[in-house]
Amino acid sequence: MTAVSAQETVSPVRFDGNELRASIDALRKQRNAVILAHYYQDPEIQDIADFIGDSLDLSRKAANTEADVIVFCGVHFMAETAKILSPEKTVLIPDIDAGCTLADDCPAEEFAAFRDQHPDHFVVSYINCTAAVKAQSDLICTSSNAVDLVNQLPSDRPILFAPDRNLGRWVQRQSGRELTFWPGRCLVHETFSEEALLKLKILHQDAEVIAHPECQEHLLELADFIGSTSKLLEHSETSDANSFIVLTEPGILHQMIQRMPNKTFYEVPGIDGCSCNACPYMRLNTLEKLLQCLIDLEPAIEMEESIRLRALKPMQKMLAMSN
Ligand code: 13P
Ligand code: SF4
Repeated sequence: MTAVSAQETVSPVRFDGNELRASIDALRKQRNAVILAHYYQDPEIQDIADFIGDSLDLSRKAANTEADVIVFCGVHFMAETAKILSPEKTVLIPDIDAGCTLADDCPAEEFAAFRDQHPDHFVVSYINCTAAVKAQSDLICTSSNAVDLVNQLPSDRPILFAPDRNLGRWVQRQSGRELTFWPGRCLVHETFSEEALLKLKILHQDAEVIAHPECQEHLLELADFIGSTSKLLEHSETSDANSFIVLTEPGILHQMIQRMPNKTFYEVPGIDGCSCNACPYMRLNTLEKLLQCLIDLEPAIEMEESIRLRALKPMQKMLAMSN
């Protein structure tokens, strides 16, 4: 099968794996597209991506790319962030329904009312929120830079932190700053079983526990290292330990195993052994949908220019303050 031309309309796409990859490859060149992927994507998407990273890495990439089209293999708020930073580009997401509980559970109107109750507060929002919430924020942070950014804020200014209370509590402990939280949480990181983690710790006593700060406080207390997805990856590479119990979405194990074939990684299941530790939104994207969006140039991210401009300010502030 030859590669699909950008002019052809082929819907829906049904190819085998090799044909899919060849077609995506040909079309990304024709479209001058860059494929960005988060670590929680399925392994075959990670393997075909031009760049893989955490939310901070991916924002920087989206801000600086020379491509005309950005295909964002992640969730909606990530693709929206790319559009905020690069409005002249076409930003595609393979599945428009790839949401995020943190963003979905912080509606802009309710957030505005919450802010009105704390008029003197400086508003720090985790990047896992909608453009309309970013537009109401003074500063955006990611799990990679949240502590560092909060440490840079004037010590006499009270801080409102949204939408993830688990990340917020961790930032509060690390920075020593008192924060007021929006009560959001990630359904994936709230699902890990403490019982399963304790059993894994007993079975693998030399293993380090590494955790994402979106996990609940009682699990973070059991961790040897806490950080964003990129930092977890980096730490497992530099640590002397040979095995790791990984408290985050298991998609990241693909990179860990590839980069460190001699080390061992254990994922932690959800409560009752469920596989709900996999993010149901991230996993909506597939290679088929990736090809289809390159053919159709849809679904594309659009937003009101007034919201984009207001959301851009705290994003730029974050990029300027992050080293
Ligand atoms: P990172 O920025 O650490 O990759 O986190 C993104 C995310 O959605 C975690 O659930
Ligand atoms: Fe959102 Fe949680 Fe999925 Fe990350 S893992 S995208 S925070 S629902």
